[in-house]
Amino acid sequence: MMDENVELKIKGKMIELPVVIGTEAEKAVDISELRAKTSYITLDQGYANTGSCLSAITFIDGDKGILRYRGIPIEQLAEKSAFVETSYLLINGKLPNKAEADQFSKELTEHASLHQDFKHIFDGIPSTTHPMATLSAMVSILSGFHSPGVDPNKLEGTAEINKIAAMLLSKVRTIAAYSYKKSIGQPFIYPHRSLSYCANFLHMMFSLPGEEHPIDEEAVKVLNLLLILHADHEQNCSTSTVRLVGSSQTNLFASIAAGICALWGPWHGGANQDVMEMLEAVHANGSDVKKYVEKAKDPNSNFRLSGFGHRVYKTFDPRGKVIKEACDQFFKKRGVHDPLLEIAFKLEEVALKDEYFISRKLYPNVDFYSGILYKALGLPTNMFPVMFAIGRLPGWIAHWKEMRETKPARIGRPRQIYVGPLQTDYIPIEKRP
Ligand code: SDX
Repeated sequence: MMDENVELKIKGKMIELPVVIGTEAEKAVDISELRAKTSYITLDQGYANTGSCLSAITFIDGDKGILRYRGIPIEQLAEKSAFVETSYLLINGKLPNKAEADQFSKELTEHASLHQDFKHIFDGIPSTTHPMATLSAMVSILSGFHSPGVDPNKLEGTAEINKIAAMLLSKVRTIAAYSYKKSIGQPFIYPHRSLSYCANFLHMMFSLPGEEHPIDEEAVKVLNLLLILHADHEQNCSTSTVRLVGSSQTNLFASIAAGICALWGPWHGGANQDVMEMLEAVHANGSDVKKYVEKAKDPNSNFRLSGFGHRVYKTFDPRGKVIKEACDQFFKKRGVHDPLLEIAFKLEEVALKDEYFISRKLYPNVDFYSGILYKALGLPTNMFPVMFAIGRLPGWIAHWKEMRETKPARIGRPRQIYVGPLQTDYIPIEKRP
């Protein structure tokens, strides 16, 4: 929605720029005409103050700790929804009715298996490969088996997008489980047609040939919760990557594969693995929490308190709050004591009383407690970012679809300010110092 204008004065010349106001009264100065009118561009390292698009998918208020998917508060979805239903909501903009839910589930079931040729591809991957590398590679290769998804122009319309979304959501889960089995040298376990999305994943992860892993309803509930909480988060690093890659008119598989790689970094979705390795290091070093907090404050140290801080949330991350509560309940119900959870509680307590963290508004984010639950579900640490990717997949698909529906279509191509050498001449090698 356009509303007031703002004035910008450059070298005595005043120009007017339009202001865009969102449905939650967020305001942006539209600088689309800035360079044409002034020859100036803006500079914003890390895009902390720069909006890349208008979006109707997710709303975050970082000062109030608000997160809503298509207007529905994350706390309600976490309590009442399931990951498959929330995926439909993000992609289609509404909760599915019975017929739509049944059709979406049917397509998820139909697409759960992988083409037999994938076995040969998995055979060629070293068992030491990080599962995020395997996931990204395999998602790219999926385009070789699903040509309709290769031409984005064939993906117009809800039915087509939902088909390819269900296929991706279902196969990414299978690929993730196979990556784990490959890493531990166990045979792949095929999906069951009768199991729900999360139960099927746990079955493929932990069953053995001829020995079905017992379905633990509590574990299925916790996994649904974790995937719902990770399903979207507006223009974060990996989602913006999916949109940018997709803006070159490439296919959904290539865009998602790029998003997986962006998510892998320890400052983004790889933080849940980094947090677990940090908690284990603290535990191995006598649980001296204060030492690690001091190290994180030291400007000469590259160490950061993983799972702390956020570009948007300057108060608690609502997802972190839900996950922390789920950790507590899960362990209480099982009568289990995890020393790493105690260390996490202690780290949070010490950091949140420390001026360094208070002044920088650094709070635990979604990754601080999630790894403790993934570990309790039996997942190895290097699979934690993969779980984040499975959760974020519906959000990536929703944003790719929204980007493709935005007209006129434009390729994403930021500008820069050049600070390199002025014009100089080529020097033949014999004359170089
Ligand atoms: C996710 O964007 C999203 O929405 C992401 C995400 C999603 O759902 O998609 O929410 C998921 O990626 C969560 C974040 C997971 N990453 C981590 O937990 C890694 C640790 N956190 C940081 O690296 C950092 O807080 C970021 C990357 C999350 C945010 O970085 P910013 O916004 O660019 O902040 P910054 O690097 O400019 O830091 C501001 C100050 C700096 O100190 P000064 O220069 O002011 O002295 O805070 C310090 C930083 O050094 N700081 C930390 C810190 N995080 C920031 N110091 C110690 N420990 C930390 N964790």
